[in-house]
Amino acid sequence: MNILLIGSGGREHAFSMQLCKSKLCSKLYIMPGNAGTASLGVNVAINPLDFDSVGLFCIENKIELLIVGPEDPLVKGIRDYFEAHEQLKNIAFVGPDSIGAQMEGSKDWSKVFMQKHGIPTAAYKTFTSENLQEGIDYLSNHSLPIVLKADGLAAGKGVLICETREEAIKELDLMISEKKFGSASTKVVVEEFLKGIELSVFVLTDGKNYQILPSAKDYKRIGEADAGLNTGGMGAISPLPFANEAYIKKVEDRIIKPTINGLQADGINYVGFIFIGLMNVNEEPFVIEYNSRMGDPETEVVLPRIQTDFVELMMATATGSLNEISLQIDSRTATTIMLVSKGYPEDYEKGKVISGMELVNDSILFHAGTKFGENGDILSNGGRVMAITSFGNTIAEALAISNKNAALVQFENKYYRRDIGYEFL
Ligand code: AMP
Ligand code: GLY
Repeated sequence: MNILLIGSGGREHAFSMQLCKSKLCSKLYIMPGNAGTASLGVNVAINPLDFDSVGLFCIENKIELLIVGPEDPLVKGIRDYFEAHEQLKNIAFVGPDSIGAQMEGSKDWSKVFMQKHGIPTAAYKTFTSENLQEGIDYLSNHSLPIVLKADGLAAGKGVLICETREEAIKELDLMISEKKFGSASTKVVVEEFLKGIELSVFVLTDGKNYQILPSAKDYKRIGEADAGLNTGGMGAISPLPFANEAYIKKVEDRIIKPTINGLQADGINYVGFIFIGLMNVNEEPFVIEYNSRMGDPETEVVLPRIQTDFVELMMATATGSLNEISLQIDSRTATTIMLVSKGYPEDYEKGKVISGMELVNDSILFHAGTKFGENGDILSNGGRVMAITSFGNTIAEALAISNKNAALVQFENKYYRRDIGYEFL
């Protein structure tokens, strides 16, 4: 089978590895891919947002399965484009249409959805320029801290946690009147702060059936002890000690089932991954956010644990037969540590030669931001450069291997958190 995977991060390198393991995969293309995916398939230099070119590529290369990694093409309607096209509509497709992708593309939309379907989430109200004064009055009486969320996609930067009401009022005004996050903050969701431990639960659905994938925890802050700016994620662990069978059952009953049923009741044909960001508040799960894709770097610990043939799993998703799949999961723990460039998550360095990869034989190196230099060197090409995934019988065992290898892979001014998983050690 000819397969096209869209994306270029560590997530897509992990997808590529799983797809290549399957006997069903005859040819894998990654659009645009990175230096890691190049060793598993053919990187294709087409912009995934140029749907005409993506479609033409699929026709010319007889693509039979298309998987979309990142949210942007989904929110912008890549599935809708394929469904409306005579020659493309029969390609097996993993990823929701633009309405389903509103789960991630609009925080207000997802809050309305959760409220309508009785899914536990923080109390909220949404404001725009039309009711800004009402918003300011609302904030003046709000409990602290206050969470402000830009409604639209803001590259992971659109959430602010304000410690004072004055700060919240100033930020609400900046977001709405000064368009702090561009059109993404035309609407702002003001939310109650939930205190607890975060975890991510991943669900794969074909529109009627679903399978629950392993859960994971991501470390979002740049600094050790969870200090400093938010990043895309600095490391991850799967599974989590507290997310045992009973806890996941609770999540399934209170959150996953109502979500899948809600999508169906609302007439949304959602085919793909649902990433549910949860806050565990005194053992009770609340939804912080939905994403319409897999997480990165969570994928780098979740996918290596999936033993079921991954092409079969993707095809079952795309063709409505997920109920026929029996999911096999590796019971060991997987951990990943992300090596990042100096400056990340703000302006960062690029083009640094990466060395020492050949010294690593007991971890999987998932390339994130990498590319080939002219002489064949592998160069850093992003804020997040490489995820180092290891297995162990315990979190400590897996982390020890990831940490050892994080020190062996070198590039100038490399940075990584040495405390991933600290609260479980
Ligand atoms: P998001 O972009 O929605 O993932 O939010 C970024 C981060 O903000 C989350 O990972 C949480 O750490 C934090 N966050 C979001 N919403 C809340 C909330 N209601 N209470 C506490 N923390 C939150
Ligand atoms: N690691 C968080 C995300 O993918 O959104």
